[in-house]
Amino acid sequence: MTGKFITVEGIEGAGKTTCMQVVTEVIEHQGINAIHTREPGGTDLGEDLRSLLLGHKHTGMSDDAELLMMFAARAEHIAQKIQPALDDGKWVLCDRFTDATYAYQGYGRGIPLEKIAGLENWVQGELRPDLTLLMDLPVEVGMERAGKRSAPDRFESEAWDFFERIRQGYLSIAAEQPSRVKVIDASQDLPDVQAQVRVAIEDFVNA
Ligand code: TMP
Repeated sequence: MTGKFITVEGIEGAGKTTCMQVVTEVIEHQGINAIHTREPGGTDLGEDLRSLLLGHKHTGMSDDAELLMMFAARAEHIAQKIQPALDDGKWVLCDRFTDATYAYQGYGRGIPLEKIAGLENWVQGELRPDLTLLMDLPVEVGMERAGKRSAPDRFESEAWDFFERIRQGYLSIAAEQPSRVKVIDASQDLPDVQAQVRVAIEDFVNA
């Protein structure tokens, strides 16, 4: 039996790491064999592309170059890591996937969503996440949390309204695909956020 593909999404500072920890705890408790990975990244090539995408060396890169590099990293990630693990019956828990491309390059940068859909179909074939947990919170709260962590990367250096468009983009995706995308109110206190994630993943595992 093929494994399940779970992704975690949200703007910067939304608490994806906390979410990944709770999901891991729940699925490992069930005896499910899972791998953890992230995008952009997850392979040698993907991690090199991540450095180019997040670093400040190519600050003025074109929106199309950015989009295509995300999908280049994703193509490698699927071929080398995600699909083999799923075929092997393992679950794959991925920190960001194509919803991030719709949110950041689509809603954020303004690239038409149909262009992204074309790349999605090409690169992924039938592969789509089985469950996506969207960590949602107001941009100012996320920015404050992210700002406390480290120096801003190339995306984190964008203006506030870029992240507002991304947040709204994510919420539009969730509204269109409610059975796949579960929205977690990440503005709450940590124990409450953890409890919401626990309920969402337990519902999925027990379905
Ligand atoms: P993070 O995984 O540490 O949050 O950083 C990844 C950054 O890359 C984040 O700012 C979102 C951005 N990103 C995109 O713009 N498009 C994508 O398709 C993916 C996977 C990430």
